[in-house]
Parts: sequence; structure tokens; C-alpha cells
Amino acid sequence: MRSTPRMDVLGAHAARLVDRRIPELVAEDPVRAAGRALRVGPLYANFARHRLDADAWQALFGLAGDAGVPAAIRALFDGAEVNASERRPALHTALRSSLGASAVARDAHRLAGEARAQMDGLVAALAASDVTDIVNVGIGGSDLGPRLAVDALRDFHSGRFRVHFLANVDGSAAQHLLRGLDPARTAAILVSKSFGTQETLLNGAILRDWLGGGERLYAVSANVPGAKAFGVDTGRILPMWDWVGGRFSLWSAVGFAIALAVGMARFDELLAGAAEMDAHVLGAPVECNLAVWHALVAVWNRNGLGLDSHAILPYDERLALLPAYLQQLVMESLGKSVTPRGEPVDCATAPVLWGGVGTSSQHSFFQALHQGSDTVPADFIGVVRPAHGYTDNHHALLANLLAQAEALANGYAAADPQRRHPGNRPSTFLLLDALTPQALGALLALYEHSVYVQSVLWDINAFDQWGVELGKKIAGDLLPAVRDGSDAGVIDPVTRTLLAEIRARG
Ligand code: F6P
Repeated sequence: MRSTPRMDVLGAHAARLVDRRIPELVAEDPVRAAGRALRVGPLYANFARHRLDADAWQALFGLAGDAGVPAAIRALFDGAEVNASERRPALHTALRSSLGASAVARDAHRLAGEARAQMDGLVAALAASDVTDIVNVGIGGSDLGPRLAVDALRDFHSGRFRVHFLANVDGSAAQHLLRGLDPARTAAILVSKSFGTQETLLNGAILRDWLGGGERLYAVSANVPGAKAFGVDTGRILPMWDWVGGRFSLWSAVGFAIALAVGMARFDELLAGAAEMDAHVLGAPVECNLAVWHALVAVWNRNGLGLDSHAILPYDERLALLPAYLQQLVMESLGKSVTPRGEPVDCATAPVLWGGVGTSSQHSFFQALHQGSDTVPADFIGVVRPAHGYTDNHHALLANLLAQAEALANGYAAADPQRRHPGNRPSTFLLLDALTPQALGALLALYEHSVYVQSVLWDINAFDQWGVELGKKIAGDLLPAVRDGSDAGVIDPVTRTLLAEIRARG
């Protein structure tokens, strides 16, 4: 693939650094280990273990300047139409910060505050009712963010409700969940920005029927008429807006399930943590801007070193869902190969993002990270202060976290090739002081901003997702064939064969 002149600069530095090893780069610069690090509130990030020297870092900062990153960040906060294909702003920052200097951004911030007040009222009303269980029905951004936050903040749950999630259209998910619940004590929140998502409408109908009507049916949607037509009472519908993307929406009423789990005060702390990151990202120059560093390193690994996969490795059981959440945030935002003007992007974009929680993953895929033929850069994420008293376990967890990042970078020169570790495998090290709502907010906002900056560097739109449409359309076309057994309209010969096999065995 050809690369832009800007990306060619990275190629030149990568060629110069091809034989350099991370431990050598660290050893030759006495301030590098501590100097390639930034802190924002409860979040510390160390970038010393990347295959970059001072000149390459300067080239990356130059790249950010050439691409207009500071102005692009300002434009995001101010509500410019950064989502060009849908002619919309992406004002997720307005859900938690009042930093946008435009009427559009100020209006969005006001609407977000009103929605939070409405949500506060519904949380209080539910708390005063005899409801014990909440089911969040939604998929993609209407599921992954709330699911992650509810799981990650388990130590902050008020204990008033048990919160469950139903996403997949596979009926076994609904069957399994509902088996353990009492319809008289359960409320369902149908979360769908569009209120047109097949999975959510089918699962929502199951819940509506199971609950025996709309009395304990809630909705969060930008399509209020759609939610009403579905049978949700107006007073139980919380708003969404077209200026918030689904995968950036957990800070809105899409986070209703989070607020029910941890209470409004903790939900506000989550927003405050994100707001602290927003203020940093908007105010800091590229040379000391955490989100810009994170994005530049991603672009360096992808375009400078040509690495096409990236691992997310949280060393905290409570962050086990982070890789799944980031898969949508990164791959749905950056999995594009056309510019907003419809021209092909002439460099590689989103890597395949994957991962798993440490230490469990050390006993599954880490072998390939250490000795596989591909180099996979990683984000290691640790938490300094645990929320439990098992000190020996926590010390072991931290020792493993430190050891794995060190082993991947430094390798091991054994005489036996089977035992040799090539090393030179880059990683970013992120440390949260503790896994509080604020710290989680800061961490997720960091990734959001990094994704946006990467999109600016690659000249792609981070806020649309046209690539998911074709499969949805074909599924709609094929539904009559699956349901009614008629092949009219099924033209693909392989699909016809597979349908025949399904029918023969069904
Ligand atoms: O199919 C992809 C997608 O549009 C995501 O971007 C979105 O988060 C998800 O579907 C759910 O959409 P909705 O909230 O409109 O139901």
C-alpha cells in the first residue's frame, strides 16, 4: 500500500530504527524511562517501551502538527461537523464537559444536563419501587459501554438492583436470562439510539410480553416516536441525540443502567473523570498531550513499523470487558479505507484489536506474544490500589504485570533457540491509582480521544459505520427465505446451498 508523504516520514525513521532494540534505546537515554510518561489525574501512562527515539518522537509531533490535530480537537469540542458523511457533530464531550465554545456545544451540554436530571428522577422512582432486577436491552454502543462500566465498578454498586444485559438476537440469551428473573420485580430498559435495531426490537418485544405490558418498560432513544409506538410511556423515555455516536454514548442516558447500579453520585464521578481528561486533551500542546501521544504511538506501530494487530491487556478482573468495549470503539471508528471526500486512504488504518485479562491470558495466548512470528504491540493496564484485602494476590498480580511488559520488551538470549525470547515487542503501560468511577471515566475518555486523533492523522471519519449496513440489508432480504422456506430472491448459490442444508436438518 502506498503511503502519504506525511507517513513516508515515519517510514524513514522506521528504516533508521530497524535494528534498534527497546532495551538499548532505554539504556542510552537516562531520562527516557521516566521522561516518556504523562499523568492526568488518576491515570499515569508510560511510553518508554516503544521503538522510537527522540528524532522519531519529533517526527510524530510534526505529523500531528501537519495534520492539524490541535485545531481538529478544538473542532470536536465546538461541535463542528466532524461526522461528514452524516453531516453531524460528535459532541460526546458535551455530555460531561462545558468546554465547547459554540452555541451548538453549549446547547448540547444543557440538553445533557436536563436528561441527567430526568434520569435522576427515574433512578429515584425505581429505587422507591419494589423492582429488584434491571435488564438493559441493547447492542453495540447501547450495550458494551454500560456493560463494561457496571462490571468494572462492581465495588461501587449500591446493591439496590441487580443489573443484567441482553444484547444478542440469539434467543438462548433471553431464555437463559429470564429463567432466573421474576417479571413482577424486573424493569427493562430498551436502549437504542435508532430504535430500529433488529436485535433490540426482537429482544425488547420478548421483554415487553414477559413483563405483561409497559408499566416497567423504559427506553433511551433519539427516536422517541419509535419508542412510544413500541409501547413505552413518554414519562419513561430518556433522550438521545444524533450528535452522540452509539460507541461514545455511555455518558448519556445510555448509562441509565450504570446509574442504577452505582447511584447518580457515582455516575457523576464517572463523568467528572472523563471531564478531567477532556480538559487535558483540549488544553495540552501535542508534545505533552496524553491522547495525542497514545494516538501517535498507534500510528507509529501501524504505519511506521507495519504492525497490524494490537492487544489490550488489563491486569484487573474488573476490566475484563475492556477489550470487547475497545473493539467497537477502535474498529468501528477506524476500520475505514476511504477519506471523508471519498478518496482511498493511502496508508493502513485500524489494526485488529483484541486482548484479554491478565494473569489468565498469560496461560493462553501470551506464548504467541512472546515467541510468535508476529510482533503485537500492547497496552498493559494495571491498578495500583486494589479493592480487596488479599495482599499476596495483589502483589503477585502487579509482579506479573511488570514482568510481562519487561519480558516482551527485553527478550531473553537463551542458547537453545526453543527457549529464546526475541523481545523488542513494544507496549504502553497504563496505571490507574485505583479503579474508581473517576479513574474509569478518565481511562475511557483517553481512548475516545486517542481514536479521534488517529482518525485525524489517517484522514478518516471516526463517527460513521457504513460497513455494518450491507450485512444488515442482506439479513433482511434473507429473513423470508429462512422463515417461510421460499428461495425467491436468494441469488447467491452458496447461500442457496446452505439454506437447503439448514432446511434438511431443521
Ligand atoms: O450496527 C452498528 C450500530 O449501529 C452501532 O454503531 C450501534 O452502537 C449499534 O448498532 C446499536 O444501535 P442502536 O443504539 O441504534 O440500537
